[in-house]
Amino acid sequence: MERVRVAVLISGRGSNLQTLIRAARPDFPAEIVHVVSDTPDAPGLAHGRDAGIPVRVVDRRDHANRAAFEAALESCLREVEAEWVCLAGFMRVLTADFIAAWPDKILNIHPSLLPAFKGLHTHERVLAAGVRFTGCTVHVVRPAVDDGPVIAQAVVPVLPDDTVDVLAARVLEAEHRLYPLALHLVATGKARVMGDRVEINRDLFATSPALFNPGGKGIEGGVGGG
Ligand code: GRF
Repeated sequence: MERVRVAVLISGRGSNLQTLIRAARPDFPAEIVHVVSDTPDAPGLAHGRDAGIPVRVVDRRDHANRAAFEAALESCLREVEAEWVCLAGFMRVLTADFIAAWPDKILNIHPSLLPAFKGLHTHERVLAAGVRFTGCTVHVVRPAVDDGPVIAQAVVPVLPDDTVDVLAARVLEAEHRLYPLALHLVATGKARVMGDRVEINRDLFATSPALFNPGGKGIEGGVGGG
């Protein structure tokens, strides 16, 4: 089986990186070939090292400006022959020029149901808004922050006593199911970017609707009937 070569970009903890690494067994259609962090002390680097995946730090502070930083990142990704790039808690906004060099090949995960709650401090804002459901989204990266065609989403309930940490943990669990799934869909061509939307293989949607809402489980577990 031909496996697509994926580089994962992180800045911190790297729990989504870890789930991608775990998912990418030999029968998975994507292979994690490199982990890149923009900070030398990102704890997530250890997940790459532990799995025997080459890791590299491309530190913004070692580069005179954003263009030089992105050029270094670009040459690193080309050198390792990455075909797709997964952002997993990567805290830098990439420029339109960088994104244009990887047309429809950069994915990101965001802890909300986009296009709602883009940006930082997502869970605080979800709780303040009083919405009953939130979730997470894997999307194709476009120049605007947390914007781009949606590949997959998972719905997660917001429960009455939720704190930011409790809600974040519930959403993170759904993220860990969603990112490998979304990568599987694009790597196999079952999800294809068509302009501003991602089209999903119709048969797959009919036979496995749960694939597209792997967070749905939490609703049964968290909200009683009656
Ligand atoms: C996740 O919540 C992800 O959605 C957001 O940043 C966080 C990264 O967490 N983009 P981790 O580093 O993968 O644990």
